[in-house]
Amino acid sequence: MADSGFSLRMATADDADFLTDMLVAAVNWNPAQTAVSRDRVLEDCLSAHYVEGWPRPGDLGVVAVEAGGRPIGAAWLRQFGHDDPGYGFVAGDVPELSVGVVAAWRGKGVGRALLTDVARHATERGIARICLSVERANRARDLYVAEGFTTVASGPDADTMIRVLGDGPSAETSPSEG
Ligand SMILES: CC(C)(COP(=O)(O)OP(=O)(O)OC[C@H]1O[C@@H](n2cnc3c(N)ncnc32)[C@H](O)[C@@H]1OP(=O)(O)O)[C@@H](O)C(=O)NCCC(=O)NCCS
Repeated sequence: MADSGFSLRMATADDADFLTDMLVAAVNWNPAQTAVSRDRVLEDCLSAHYVEGWPRPGDLGVVAVEAGGRPIGAAWLRQFGHDDPGYGFVAGDVPELSVGVVAAWRGKGVGRALLTDVARHATERGIARICLSVERANRARDLYVAEGFTTVASGPDADTMIRVLGDGPSAETSPSEG
């Protein structure tokens, strides 16, 4: 463990509950809005499918843990199809990123480390591009831009962003192409 006070490891099946916690944190990113309960998040198919059945074949995740092993953040990738797209769906071969850090650890480099590491593992797997959806008012967007994501589609409040990994094709490719 470095001076940062946390280390990273691959997510396993035992992390399903923690990933759900981080999904709930991501849904509730805006403290000015009434929080959505964990049960409500899991009832909502469009949210729940980011963690349902974790891990599915093809899933890839990284967990940050503090000294003692308690998880403090996670970033994970899941591939969605045209028939069950995520909010940031781009194409059937572009996995979508989810990320969350527990409140007490935000702003200390955990999120950036998770994004870097999950991208490294994805590159090693031969994944060419990863995508995400972020509400434009969320400060997370600045982190994504700093980590090499570019906007490829915009809705009224949210952007779809892509990061090209390794020698993958340009992010300028149309979001509907696959
Ligand atoms: C977004 C999130 C994962 C970033 O992780 P983090 O560990 O706080 O981020 P880092 O410390 O590695 O990087 C800091 C950068 O992240 C961004 N950031 C986003 N939310 C932040 C927060 N609450 N506190 C500090 N920085 C935040 C800023 O761009 C910041 O850069 P700056 O310090 O130069 O302003 C984390 O804040 C979080 O879990 N937020 C709530 C859930 C969420 O929004 N998930 C993403 C949904 S798309």
